[in-house]
Amino acid sequence: MHMRLQFGSQTKLVVVICFFWWPIVESQVSNPLPKPARALDATLQDYAYRAFVHPRTGVPFDGVVPSYLTGIEISAMRLRSGSLYRRGVESFKEFVIPVGLREQPYVERLVLVYQNLGNWSTTYYSLPGYIYLAPILGLLAYNGSDLSASNLPELDFWASEEAITINFGRVSPIPVGTVAKCAWFDLHGQVNFSSLLTGNVCSTTEQGHFSIVAESAVPPVSVPPAPPEHTPRGHTHSRKYIEERIWGIIGAATGGTALLVLLALLILWAWRYKKRKRLRELERAADVGEALRMTRIGSMRAPFALATRTMPNFESDFDA
Ligand SMILES: *[C@@H]1O[C@H](CO)[C@@H](O)[C@H](O)[C@H]1NC(C)=O
Ligand SMILES: *[C@@H]1O[C@H](CO)[C@@H](O)[C@H](O)[C@H]1NC(C)=O
Ligand SMILES: *[C@@H]1O[C@H](CO)[C@@H](O)[C@H](O)[C@H]1NC(C)=O
Repeated sequence: MHMRLQFGSQTKLVVVICFFWWPIVESQVSNPLPKPARALDATLQDYAYRAFVHPRTGVPFDGVVPSYLTGIEISAMRLRSGSLYRRGVESFKEFVIPVGLREQPYVERLVLVYQNLGNWSTTYYSLPGYIYLAPILGLLAYNGSDLSASNLPELDFWASEEAITINFGRVSPIPVGTVAKCAWFDLHGQVNFSSLLTGNVCSTTEQGHFSIVAESAVPPVSVPPAPPEHTPRGHTHSRKYIEERIWGIIGAATGGTALLVLLALLILWAWRYKKRKRLRELERAADVGEALRMTRIGSMRAPFALATRTMPNFESDFDA
């Protein structure tokens, strides 16, 4: 009866734990909507191309963003596909492009557009549960044949030999108890995390937007909307947990019972030992001379001996 009560409260505790734990875990994975970010890419391509007043191949040209986007930096570099593939780019802002870069569809000339979203990073690339330790940096490629073109589609590009590296340099201090990670957003807004290389360097084999992030100290806890007892994941979890608890209780109960039995045996043994000892004493007393014995039993032993069944016999013996 007592054990069943205990078990009931344990179950409730498990359910309560699941209640609060699962929403925290599941609220951390979410993807930003890519639409405003994609519109920004198009705008920045347009403004980056305007920087090519006297275009020269392999030289970065910093662009000027419209005033409503102040805080964002852009730059553009025009390259021949063939030389980009054979030589790479030693440095383009924070990016180092090794040899072996390929693009799809193939173009003879391409333009690499660099973006530093600065204080606009979280506006366009919100990442719930994480904080940015560096601004979002973007690297995108476009057809470079017509430098007055706008609304160009991005070219797919990928590093076929070594990875492209991004050296973020100085970043915000990592919050205590968290680990900094590289975050990569592809053009669909899908975010992927990878480990940071020494010196605040991230690596990538594809185009997209990059930053260094850390899990925020207090993850946003959404209020659980429905009791989780009916959700299948919470259920399986709590079942396993309950099973463990049951075995724990059984183990504790078995141990406790064994201890109790042992203690009872010990007490029984001590009691029987004492009783036998007293009996032996009384027997010895019966053997020795009468007068002395009588007083001893009469004064000292009688109250204790009354409880035993043997005493009347002794008394009658003495009377006789
Ligand atoms: C970023 O900073 C600039 C000034 O440097 C400011 O004009 C702009 O409104 C800021 N953007 C955001 C999203 O805070
Ligand atoms: C690149 O742009 C040029 C000029 O607009 C065009 O002729 C060419 O077909 C484009 N290439 C691709 C792969 O879109
Ligand atoms: C990015 O993450 C998604 C989901 O986590 C995964 O399916 C995909 O393979 C990852 N892509 C890369 C290139 O790591």
